[in-house]
Amino acid sequence: MPPISRRDVLYSGFTLSASSLMARSAWARAVAAVGAGADTQIRAGMSPREQLLFDFDWRFQFGNGDDPARDLGFGKNQEGFAKTGDFAFAKVGFDDSKWRKLNLPHDWAVELPFVWDDSLASHGFKPLGRKYPETSVGWYRREFEIPASDAGRRIAVEFDGAFRDVMVFVNGCYLGRNESGYTPFRYDITDFVVEGAKNCIAVRVDASYGSGWFYEGAGIYRHVWLTKTDALHLGRWESWARTTQITEGSASLVLATHVVNQSKLAESTAVSWQILDAAGKKVASAEAPAQQIEIDGKANYEVNATIPHPAVWSVDSPNLYTAVVTVKTGDKVRDVERITFGVRTVKFDADHGLFLNGRPLKIQGTCNHQDHAGVGMALPDRMQAFRVGVLQEMGCNAVRTSHNMPTPELVEACDRMGMMMMCETRQMSSSPEGTAQLETMVKRYRNSPSIIIWSIGNEESQLQGPMAEEGAKIAAAMAQKCHELDPSRVVSAAVNGDNEKGVSDALDVIGFNYLLKYPDQFHKEHPARPVYGSETASTICTRGVYQTDPLRNTLSAYDVNHTDWSELAEDWWPFYATREWEAGGFAWTGFDYRGEPTPYGWPSINSNFGIVDTCGFPKDNFFYYRAWWRTEPLLHLFPHWNWEGREGEEIPVWVYSNVDEVELLVNGKSLGRQKMPKYLHVEWKVRYEPGVIEARGYKDSKVVLTEKRETTGPVAALRLTADRTTIDADGEDVVVLQVDALDSAGRAVPTASNLIQFEVTGEGALIGVGNGDPNCHESDKEPRRSLFNGLAQAIVQSTKNAGTIEIETSTNTRGMTVAPAKVTITTKKVELRPAVG
Ligand code: GAL
Repeated sequence: MPPISRRDVLYSGFTLSASSLMARSAWARAVAAVGAGADTQIRAGMSPREQLLFDFDWRFQFGNGDDPARDLGFGKNQEGFAKTGDFAFAKVGFDDSKWRKLNLPHDWAVELPFVWDDSLASHGFKPLGRKYPETSVGWYRREFEIPASDAGRRIAVEFDGAFRDVMVFVNGCYLGRNESGYTPFRYDITDFVVEGAKNCIAVRVDASYGSGWFYEGAGIYRHVWLTKTDALHLGRWESWARTTQITEGSASLVLATHVVNQSKLAESTAVSWQILDAAGKKVASAEAPAQQIEIDGKANYEVNATIPHPAVWSVDSPNLYTAVVTVKTGDKVRDVERITFGVRTVKFDADHGLFLNGRPLKIQGTCNHQDHAGVGMALPDRMQAFRVGVLQEMGCNAVRTSHNMPTPELVEACDRMGMMMMCETRQMSSSPEGTAQLETMVKRYRNSPSIIIWSIGNEESQLQGPMAEEGAKIAAAMAQKCHELDPSRVVSAAVNGDNEKGVSDALDVIGFNYLLKYPDQFHKEHPARPVYGSETASTICTRGVYQTDPLRNTLSAYDVNHTDWSELAEDWWPFYATREWEAGGFAWTGFDYRGEPTPYGWPSINSNFGIVDTCGFPKDNFFYYRAWWRTEPLLHLFPHWNWEGREGEEIPVWVYSNVDEVELLVNGKSLGRQKMPKYLHVEWKVRYEPGVIEARGYKDSKVVLTEKRETTGPVAALRLTADRTTIDADGEDVVVLQVDALDSAGRAVPTASNLIQFEVTGEGALIGVGNGDPNCHESDKEPRRSLFNGLAQAIVQSTKNAGTIEIETSTNTRGMTVAPAKVTITTKKVELRPAVG
C-alpha cells in the first residue's frame, strides 16, 4: 500500500499543519510535615497554609461571542471596565438559579454535537470559533464563604489551566485575563474578598480562538484551588530540591526557595527543610539562618543537604522523596509546603544515547495529546494513571506532552509510576507572554524526576526556514531561560527538518521529527551533539479493521499505512533501535485523539495515529511495540477469524512476537514455522475457512506461547469488566469499564456493533462513554454507546458517599436475546481533600 500523501489530508479550507494527587489531604500532610512542635500549632487551629479544592458546585451557562445581550451584557458599551466593582454578574445575589450545576473539571466542547464544517476539522468538528459564538463562550459562577478567621491571610484563586482566554471577576471586580489554554494562573484576591461573608467569583472562558491544530476542548478543564497562606509565605513554585551529585553512598542536594513578606511588619524569617523518604522517615534536614525580610520584600534561601544511600528514581523503581519546607519566625510556623522530588541522574551522550542513573536506556516514547473518550479534556485525576498504565503495558517508558504544558496530575502520575517525560511549552516565543509561559512550566515542574527534557516547541517551519535568523535568537533566549531556571536539564525542540539552521543551534539535544533521511548525516557532521527522535511514526490505522476503505473512512490495522511525511512502526523503530547514538524516540501518538482526522476528514472526527484508540483499547500495533519494548515473550496473532462471506479468499495473517520462531496452524493443520525477524513481523496468506487459527511461539525449539483466533457465533451475552472493583468515595475517583460481547461459547465477538445501554445506580454517575471509532458521532455523554469492533468504554465517577455503584449494560437485538451484564463497585470512605464548602 503506497503511503497516503499529504495532499490527501487537505480538506476544503483546511490544511493539516503537520508539516509544519496534589495534597491528598493538605491538612494531614501539613501535620505530618513539620514535626511535633508545629504539629501542635496546626492542630490548635493555626494551619499556616490551606489549599482547598475549588471544583465542586459551580454554575455554568453559555455566553455569546457576538451578542452582549446574550453574554450577561458583557461588553454592551465601551464603559465596561471603567470602574472597579461594577460587574453585577460577579456579585453575590446575582440570579444564576437557571444556570446548570456542575463540578470541575469541565469541557463543554465534548458535550457539543459534531458539525460538518471543514473549518472545524482540526479540532474534531465541534462548533467552536468565531463562526459559532453561541457555543464558544462559557460563564462559570460560584459563591463562596470566607470565614472571619481568614482576616490577615493571603487568599488566592489558582487555575491549573482553562481553555482559553479566561477573564476572572471577584465580587464585581475584574481581576485579569489569561490567554493560554495550558498554563496555570492565579490571582491574589485578598483585597477583593470580605472575611466573614459570602463572596462571588465569575469566570468568562472564551474558546473562540484555538491555539493548536488538534482538539483543545473548552472550559475550566483542570482543577481550581483556593489557597490561603499567612501573609509571610513561600513564593509560588519557588521551592526546589535539586540533586547536584550522586555517589554510591549519598546524594547531594541544593535546597532553595524564596519567601515573600506581605505582612505589615519586617520579619526575621528562617527556613528549614526536612527530607522524608517514601515511608515518611526523615533522612536529611537543613536549616537556613534567619533573614530580615522587609515589608513587601522577598528573600532567597539556599542550603545544602545530603541523603545517605539514596533510593534513586528510575523507570523500574520510581522512588520519591518529600521535602518539607517550613518557614518560621522565632518558634512560630508561618508556612509549610511539601514538595515531591526524585534523586536521579540523566545524561544524553552523543555516542551512546541516554543514560539514566549511569545506565543506558532507549527512549521508548509516545507523544500524546490530553483528551480521552467520554470526557474530552476534563480528565478526572485517576484517568492520568489509567492512561500511563496503558502505555506502560506496551513498554512505553516516556511521554512527550505534545504540544503543551501538561496537567499536574499527569506529571505526578509519571513521577509515581516511572514514566519519563519530555515536557513541552505551547508557544515557541521569547516574547514576554511566551517567556512567562515557559518560566511557569519550568518552575512548576522542575522538582519532577520524570521530566528529562524541556521542549521549547514543535515544528516551527518559519523559525526553522525563512525566519531562521529570528528562530536562532528566539530559541537561544528560551534555552537560556530554561538553563537559568533549571541547570539540571537539557533543552530541546521537535524539529521537522535537517536541524542545520534556525532553532537548532540553541538545543542541547537534537530532536528529529520523522524524516529518517536526516539523522545519520547530522550525526556524522555533528558528532558531539546528542540526537533522538522527537516525533516518529504517524502510522495510521483503525482498531479492529483490516481493510483500508476510503468510502468508509477506515484504515487497515496491519502496519501498512502512513502519511507522506511519516513512517510505519516497522520503519522507525528498527532505525532508532539499531543506532547506539540515537537516544530513542517518541512515536506519534500513544493514544488516538480528537481532531486531525487524517487522512480522510469528515465524517472522521478523530485521529488515526494512535497505537491505542481514544479509549485506550490497543490496536494491533500496540503488540508490535510490546514485543520489542518489553522483555517478556509475546505472541500476538491477527486478524480475528470472523470472515463470513469471504470463504476461500486469501487473508493475510500476521504475528508480532519476540520469540525465535512462530508456527501457524489453520484448523489444526500447520502452515509451517518462520524465523522471527528482529523488529519486524511474520506473515502468512491463509485461505479463509471458518474455524481456528493458532500461532505457536518457539524459544530454543520449545513452544513457549500459543495464541488462537476462533470464528465466533453471534452475540449472546454482554460482558462488563471494571479496571478496579473498589474506588474512593470522594466525588472524584472513577472506574473505567470495558464492555464486550460474547457468543454462546463465551468467546468475545470481535465484530460486534450492538448499541449498549448503560444504567448506573447507587453512589456513582456515568460521566462519559466511548468506543474508539474515529467515525462515530454518538454522544459521549448519553448513557448508550455502540460497540465498535466488539468494544466500548464507560467512565463512572463516585459520589462522596461510601456505598456501592451498580452498573448494568443491556442491548436490544432483534430476534435474539442477549444476556445483560452487571458489575458492582464498592466506593470506600476516604478522607476528602480539603475543599471550598
Ligand atoms: C506532526 C505534528 C503533530 C501532528 C503529526 C501528524 O508533524 O507535529 O502535531 O500533526 O504531524 O502526523
